[in-house]
Amino acid sequence: MNEDYKQTYHEKYAREKQHGVKFFPDIIFKDMLVSFGIFVLLVGLAIFVGVANEPPADPSDSAYIPRPEWYFLFLFEMLKYFPGQIEWIGTAIIPGAAVVALFLLPFFDKNRSRHWSKRKFAIGFMSLAVLSMVVLTIMAVATTPPQEEVALASTLSEQITLGQDVYSVQCVECHGAEGEGGEIIGVEGLEGVVLDPINHSDIMYTYTDDTLYNIVEYGQPALGMPPLGLAYGGELSRGDITALVNFMRYTWDDRAELPAEAVAASAIPELKPGEVPSYEVHIATLSKRYCVSCHRPNKENNNYLMQSYEEIMTSGDNAPNLIAGDLGSNLIRMLHREEIEAGGPMPPTKELKPEYIEIWERWVMGGMPNTAAEAAAVSTTTTESAPTAPAASQTP
Ligand code: HEC
Ligand code: HEC
Repeated sequence: MNEDYKQTYHEKYAREKQHGVKFFPDIIFKDMLVSFGIFVLLVGLAIFVGVANEPPADPSDSAYIPRPEWYFLFLFEMLKYFPGQIEWIGTAIIPGAAVVALFLLPFFDKNRSRHWSKRKFAIGFMSLAVLSMVVLTIMAVATTPPQEEVALASTLSEQITLGQDVYSVQCVECHGAEGEGGEIIGVEGLEGVVLDPINHSDIMYTYTDDTLYNIVEYGQPALGMPPLGLAYGGELSRGDITALVNFMRYTWDDRAELPAEAVAASAIPELKPGEVPSYEVHIATLSKRYCVSCHRPNKENNNYLMQSYEEIMTSGDNAPNLIAGDLGSNLIRMLHREEIEAGGPMPPTKELKPEYIEIWERWVMGGMPNTAAEAAAVSTTTTESAPTAPAASQTP
């Protein structure tokens, strides 16, 4: 029986070989065609789809969740079942055992048939391996929170605009909206300290970008400036600080020219006569630039938070601080530097420019619309109110 089988096998082999296909060049050629197809596909994907960028690596950023590429996710998932001390079981023992089993498979399964339907053991074993990899991968994808989207500022203008935002939130409370310094008011622990301007050529000509970077990252604790880098208890990633330094350099150093795009991106749009400003376009920018640095969580501010429309409208110990149509609202009175029960003039150190106060006032009088569309609906700009139909001319 066994001999018979061997005989037929050899005959079949000889026949196949006679009219068969040669490994070289036929099979090699086929392989090359397929490889080339895949290569073209990859180049196409790289050009037209691309890969989402992530921020530059930052060892101080502990919020970053590292994860492998998708084809390793099943191993990654395994780590969840073998955490900490027994990690090595999931990373070495189980995958190692699987590879050894694959090596030994031909010794267990001596079946000589070539047709898949007659190779139940081998096919079954391999399917089990593939299936468990697929299931683990799916579980990993389903249970891993998505990487937080980060706005990547790649051009200089984007960097400067991001830096402006960082400055507004992190530095304004002490150094003032334009880096002008002066007496600190309303900041716990530094009340009454007087700061020299940092927007001055004295600083810009003597401090290199690295120096500025280090001052922000490590702070100057002896002088009262807190460290702001993530690794030192602050909130700023390396990318944030780099953008911030670019903002300072291009805005305050008279030897550097601020790109027009960056000027446009940070400009607060001027109002036309009759136009009602919106939260979205005007107020959010003004708040961020002049108020949010103190009016965010964990700051001394009577619990008045200003990071969203809802917060501005409803929070605060003396809420409501804004009442539609009422120029006697707390916030407006404080902008006019009045001292009221809710507190002193706002911002504490320096009055807002008159045109900015006007934007706040026109917003309050216009009913405090949230979106640009809502604001447009209540605006009576000259272009919209211009008579379009002659039917209006009715004479008695
Ligand atoms: C809580 C208050 C506070 C905050 C917030 C703060 N600083 Fe400071 N900063 C100080 C104090 C105080 C000094 C020390 C001033 C001195 O040298 O007398 C200082 C010093 C500096 C100096 C050096 C000034 C000099 O004369 O040598 C720079 C530059 C600076 N800060 C930039 C920043 C930037 C940029 C931010 C925002 C990312 C920031 N600071 C946030 C309080 C603060
Ligand atoms: C330097 C920090 C700082 C800045 C900048 C700042 N505030 Fe304040 N704000 C405070 C503090 C502190 C209080 C608490 C009252 C007090 O001490 O005067 C306060 C209170 C308020 C209140 C009263 C809230 C309540 O319910 O009692 C309003 C309204 C307000 N600020 C509006 C603004 C606006 C609008 C801006 C920006 C144009 C601004 N603030 C900028 C520190 C600041």
